[in-house]
Formats: sequence, C-alpha cells, structure tokens
Amino acid sequence: MINLFKPKKNGNDLELKIDKDNLPEHIAIIMDGNGRWAKKRNLPRTMGHKAGVETIRKVIKEADRIGIKYITLYAFSTENWRRPEEEVTALMKLLVQYLKSEVKELHKNDVVLRVLGEIDKLPKECEREIKEAIELTKNNKGLILNIAFNYGGRDEIVRAIRLIAEEYKDNNINIEDINNELVNNYLYTKDSPDPDLIIRPSGEQRLSNFLLWQCAYSEFWYSNVCWPDFTELDLQKAIYDYQNRDRRFGGV
Ligand code: FPP
Repeated sequence: MINLFKPKKNGNDLELKIDKDNLPEHIAIIMDGNGRWAKKRNLPRTMGHKAGVETIRKVIKEADRIGIKYITLYAFSTENWRRPEEEVTALMKLLVQYLKSEVKELHKNDVVLRVLGEIDKLPKECEREIKEAIELTKNNKGLILNIAFNYGGRDEIVRAIRLIAEEYKDNNINIEDINNELVNNYLYTKDSPDPDLIIRPSGEQRLSNFLLWQCAYSEFWYSNVCWPDFTELDLQKAIYDYQNRDRRFGGV
C-alpha cells in the first residue's frame, strides 16, 4: 500500500510504546462536542462542525500511519434530522465539500471510502458525491474509511430483519439459517470486522445508537476534549490504553 503518511521524525514517548503487533484493527469514533467547542468561542455551531472536519483529516492520516486498517466515523445520525434546519443543511454541505476536496487525496493514498446509512434519503447532491467517491475508491487496498451518515444502529438492525424476511419469503433461506453470521451480512458494515475500539470525545459516555450490533465486545475510550481539539496524541493514548486492556470476549 502506498503510504503517504510517513513516520514522524521525532516520535513521542507514547508512540514508541504502542505495540504494532497488537493494534485495534477497527477503530470507530463518535465525533462529539463540535457544538460545545463552538459555543465556548462564541461561534455558531456550524463552525464547530467545520473545525471537526480538520480533525477528521488529521485523525485519518495518523490512524493510517500507525497501521489501523478500518476507521468508522459517526458523522450524521438518523436522529440528527431533529436539529435546526440550518445545522442539518450545513452538515450536508460539509460532507459534499469534504468529498469534493478530499476524495482525490484519499484515492491517491489507496483509501477505500464507504458510507454506512440510508444514502438515498439524502439531498441528491450528497447522494451523488457519495456514490462517486465509493465508486472511485472501491478497488483500493489501503485503509477502509467508513463514514456513518444518516445512520442509526436500530434502523440498521430493522433493515437487516426486513431483508432477511424477504429472503425467507422468497424461499432463499430457512429459519435455521438465521445466525450471527447471516445477520452480519445484512448490515451496512458487512465488509468490516466489528470495531475493537470505540472512541468518544467531549465527556459523554453513551453509544447514541451507534453500531449497536457490532459493539458487542468493543472496548470504549472516553475523553473530555471536544472533537475539534482531539489530536493525534489523543488517538495514540486511546490505542495505548486499549492495548493494556484484557479482552476476554465472555471467556476467562
Ligand atoms: C456531534 O457534535 C457531531 C455531529 C453530529 C456531526 C459531526 C460532523 C462532522 C465532524 C463534520 C461533517 C462530517 C464529514 C464526514 C465531512 P455535537 O454537534 O452534538 O456537539 P455538542 O454535543 O457539543 O452540541
């Protein structure tokens, strides 16, 4: 894989402690705190989201440089439609701008972009940009970047149940065929392993309808910084802490 994200010359102490043989394969991030970040600075909430896009750029590069294989970012939930129209429109625009300005660079760096969520319910321009970005990057071999947009964990499970019911109705499957693996195959994340590590900045400690099925054995990492202030070092801290956990998956 082409690696634009060259090793830093002056790696910090923490970076040196990260065990490259025990990295979380998949990190998922709830990018929270943009609104509070903006409020503290007397800025409109949308400026917080804009600042959050800068953090996305930094974090993706750092994750790829460290050797993470999958990153999932929670960018717009099925509940976020309840926000003021102005904020919803700004988030849609930010996604379009992000894809327009970033997709070539991502493609050059071998990144595969995927979107989790109901994209056909988005404004047409958003849907078109997403589809083009997915198409352009689909054969790449590097970091898999999942953007959860118009995504809700419960909706995803309901959608899977409906699809499975259709398969049953069409006599393609029997009741006994329904197991964890089959359900997995009807989720938006069917091509990604379950997240090993879920990161939520901004001090909140809840899942907010994110990857409900997939988080069964994920490790959680919280921090008090708002997403626009989240740094490469915070990502390293999360990975380092993760490596010091004892994952038992229900065993002993
Ligand atoms: C949560 O913070 C953040 C969001 C709902 C949106 C996250 C979106 C971006 C970072 C940018 C758009 C995405 C892409 C991929 C270009 P909040 O608004 O709930 O913050 P608060 O809890 O402080 O109010």
